Order: sequence, then C-alpha cells, then structure tokens
Amino acid sequence: SAAEKGGWSSFMKKEISEEPDAVANTLRGRVVGGTVQLPELDGVAEELAGINRVLILACGTAAYAGMLGKYAIEAWARIPVDVELSHEFRYRDPVLDERTLVVSVSQSGETMDTLMAVRYAREQGARTLSICNTQGATIPRESDAVLYTHAGPEVAVASTKAFVAQVTALYLLGLHLAGQRGALSEAAIAAQLGELEAVPHKLQQVVDAVSGRIAELAHWMSDTQSVLFLGRHVGFPVALEGALKLKELAYIHAEGFAAGELKHGPIALIEPGQIVFVLVPSPRDPSSLHKKVVSNIQEIRARGARVIAIAELGDVAVVPFADEVLRVPLAAPFFQPLLGVVPLHVFGMELATAKGLDVDQPRNLAKSVTVE
Ligand code: G6P
Repeated sequence: SAAEKGGWSSFMKKEISEEPDAVANTLRGRVVGGTVQLPELDGVAEELAGINRVLILACGTAAYAGMLGKYAIEAWARIPVDVELSHEFRYRDPVLDERTLVVSVSQSGETMDTLMAVRYAREQGARTLSICNTQGATIPRESDAVLYTHAGPEVAVASTKAFVAQVTALYLLGLHLAGQRGALSEAAIAAQLGELEAVPHKLQQVVDAVSGRIAELAHWMSDTQSVLFLGRHVGFPVALEGALKLKELAYIHAEGFAAGELKHGPIALIEPGQIVFVLVPSPRDPSSLHKKVVSNIQEIRARGARVIAIAELGDVAVVPFADEVLRVPLAAPFFQPLLGVVPLHVFGMELATAKGLDVDQPRNLAKSVTVE
C-alpha cells in the first residue's frame, strides 16, 4: 500500500534511498575503537582460526556481493577465497573439508538453491557461516554461525539495499579474519574500518546527486535495445550487478564485462550508438587500472559507443572521452563499488519506469525463489 511505501512511488525507490542506512545499520556496534567486534562469531572462533580456505555461495545479486567479498578477504586476510553460484556448486562433486569455511550470502535466507548447497557443504564437513538479512530464516538456522545484515525488510523483487549491506558484512568478516590471523596490522585494519564507516555519508551524497540526472538519461534511452557495463577489479561485480538490474527491471538485453576482457571478444559488439556504462577506477589508485580503463573508453568511443562513465570527483582524464560523467565521492578502492553501484540501481529503476513497467514486481520473478 501507499502507506507502507512511506510516500515513495515504489518500494524500490524507497529501498535505494535506504542504501546509506543499510550500511550504517550493518556496521552499528561492530566497529569499536578501530577494531571489528563480531560476538556472533565467538562460538566458532576456534573453527575460524583453523580454516585454510573460504568458499562463498550465493545466487543473483548476493553472488556479486560475494565476488567483492572474495577480492577483499583475499587481499586483507590472505586466505584463498572462491565464490560460486549455489546451484552450480551443489551438483558438481566439489572438494571441501572441515578446514573450508562456507559463507552463504542470502537476503531472504530461504533461497532453495543456496539452502541445498549449505546442507551439502555441512554434510561434507565444512564450517558454515550465513550472511543473511532475515532474522531466523532457514539458512541461518541451519548454519554454524550467522552474521546478520541490517538492511531492513526488502520488498522490491530486485535487490538493492541488501547488496550494499552484504558487501559491508563480507568486509567486516574479511577484516575480522585479517585481525585473527595477523595478516593486517591493527593500524591497517583501523584505516579500512574508517573508510567503511565513511561510506554511509558518501552513499547519501551519491543518492542525492545522481538521481535526477539519471532519470533524464533513462527517459532519453527508453527505447534502447541493449546496454553494456564495463568494470575492472572491484568494478567488475558492479558491472554485472548493473546488467542484472536492467534485465530484471527493464527487460532489455544487458551484459556486464570485465574491462580487460573487452579485447578478447566483447569489443566486437560495439557499434555506433551502443550505450556502455563504465565504472572508472580512481586515478589515485596506485595500480595502473585507471589508465587501462580510460584507454578502454577511448577504444569503444572510437567505434561509436555512447559512454556513461561513473568516475570519482575530480577525475578529469575521463571527461574528453565520455558522453556523460556521473560523479562519486573519493574512496579507497574496496569502497568504490559501494558508491558506484547506486547510479546503476537508479538507472535500472528509472529505465523500467520510463518504459511504464512495475519496478517492484517484474514479470516472471519472485523475491525469494524457494524451489530448486
Ligand atoms: C532472486 C531475486 C534476486 C536475488 C536472488 C537471491 O532471484 O530476484 O534479486 O538476488 O533471488 O536471493 P537471496 O534472498 O538468496 O539473496
């Protein structure tokens, strides 16, 4: 009902506006004096200390959060991490044992594919940790431990605020493991936590700054047939998430690519007028990824693509090559995706709205898929 939406035109619009709170509430009480406090993991502390591998299992948007978790946990805690779609994992005779930590990520905690994968992992002797947004759901009940995200109830079928909360929880887990293993210094952990705590405010700036402009862009693009998304490193899962939103909400063909893969095939798709969103890494990043992605933009622009760049404030290098630049505040590399994803969530919603579609209830989809 209109009352439940609190004056918003859709649950999705309301839930995107709640992305800053989803992160803030997931952090609340868990960062104290520059350290991670996760008392819910106390009961499995010994098991966690003994793991030699992490396997993240999820479906849909939650799996993209998992990909970000993989990059962060490996970088911070120096433990090998894999991320796999639950339904693929379950039926391929995977290798795992009691030193494997299986981390399931699920907003609903009821996704049957993920539940079956967790059950299977337990049977194989793995330790199981659930990252879940729904108190008392089946997956957390069947796991050894649970780390709840506090995004609040998510009603729109396409996930938005749950995604940023899942990434937040995975980052907390990564920093917790890094501390436990001494893989990062106390100062380095405190610095990353400081970055994480700054995210809600920056997210609010993005929500406020980009929404109007994206509505205009989506209006002009309402008859587009295909949209591509490019990202690299932590921008890659964001590209996949942007594409999924367009499929789910606007029913148009969309694909996300790792920008480095462009020359290995996808560049053949570029023809005049093709819309391409590009997540641009920070020019302050010590890696050379900013330069590489800007050169990808030049390559596709030369072939007629219409480029919408999502770039950090003050990044002037992209300006000559982009048709449009959507700005996000400065953040350390691992925190950029939490900001860059917002314009893509808004774009999916606005393109669907421009096409006259129901953004909360897309055709053929269910909020939680409780069948295999
Ligand atoms: C459905 C939803 C997606 C969601 C996926 C996983 O397919 O449409 O938005 O990402 O399920 O849901 P879960 O509840 O496990 O996070």
